[in-house]
Amino acid sequence: MAISQLEFNQLNRVLDEHTGIRLNASKADIMASRLSSRLRANACATHNQYYQLIISPDGKKELDIFIDKMTTHETYFFREQVQFEFLYEYFRGKQSRRVPIKAWSAASSTGEEAYSIAMVLDDLFYGRNWSVTGTDISPTAVEMAKEACFAMSTSQKIPKKYRRAYCLKGIDQNEGTFTVNKAIKSHCTFYVDNLLRLKKVDYSFDIIFLRNVLIYFDEIKQKAIIDNIVHRLNHGGLLFLGHSESLRKKRQGLELIQPCIYKKVRL
Ligand SMILES: C[S@@+](CC[C@H](N)C(=O)[O-])C[C@H]1O[C@@H](n2cnc3c(N)ncnc32)[C@H](O)[C@@H]1O
Repeated sequence: MAISQLEFNQLNRVLDEHTGIRLNASKADIMASRLSSRLRANACATHNQYYQLIISPDGKKELDIFIDKMTTHETYFFREQVQFEFLYEYFRGKQSRRVPIKAWSAASSTGEEAYSIAMVLDDLFYGRNWSVTGTDISPTAVEMAKEACFAMSTSQKIPKKYRRAYCLKGIDQNEGTFTVNKAIKSHCTFYVDNLLRLKKVDYSFDIIFLRNVLIYFDEIKQKAIIDNIVHRLNHGGLLFLGHSESLRKKRQGLELIQPCIYKKVRL
């Protein structure tokens, strides 16, 4: 179904209000195609009807689905593996340091990044007090992260020693999938939060992964997100960005120690 300029603007405004993401006008067709099944499912004859639904008090559930459809969730285990290797080596020399160790996968999508961090931390700090928090704007993605049921084919990205130690093959109705074991799951918590208006997420993290999400925001919002993040990072803590992302301007208090990896330092 074609989308008019007005309808695109209406839906784009809802998206912006809830996520901070504003699509370029050239993305109108992509929006229409991502929403076509939702219009059908809700018997909406036009995008305007769909817009009226998601802004109505009864449309809260559909609003969550709208946000999920409009955001990109691509992720995989040990994405940009060199960063996980760095994480391991960096903390290996610090295994005797005080615990707890707190990590945050900000924009965790369906959980692969958070569980990858968790495998490295368990390897380093087995039996000790460490935790990984995963947050994302998409309630659907967060539910999937909590469920931790992944297609077997995606396990190939997990280093063999971690696959053996932490992954459990699904049987019966879960054939063709795997999950992570209790040693990992019990240290991981997921919930919905908006990077631009953080309400629930804690402070004092030692490790923050903020990867492949800044690219969706304009410069002002990127700065607001970085401010929120840095505020929650301990001095000496590490911030990991995606490989296509960088801090556009040098930031006081953050020292670049590897490409796309920053350390928070005292001013
Ligand atoms: C491409 S995924 C990145 C996943 C993971 N960090 C990685 O690098 O593999 C981007 C995620 O950012 C989330 N996102 C978009 N806007 C957000 C916001 N304002 N607050 C929190 N998460 C957001 C999306 O829902 C999506 O799951």
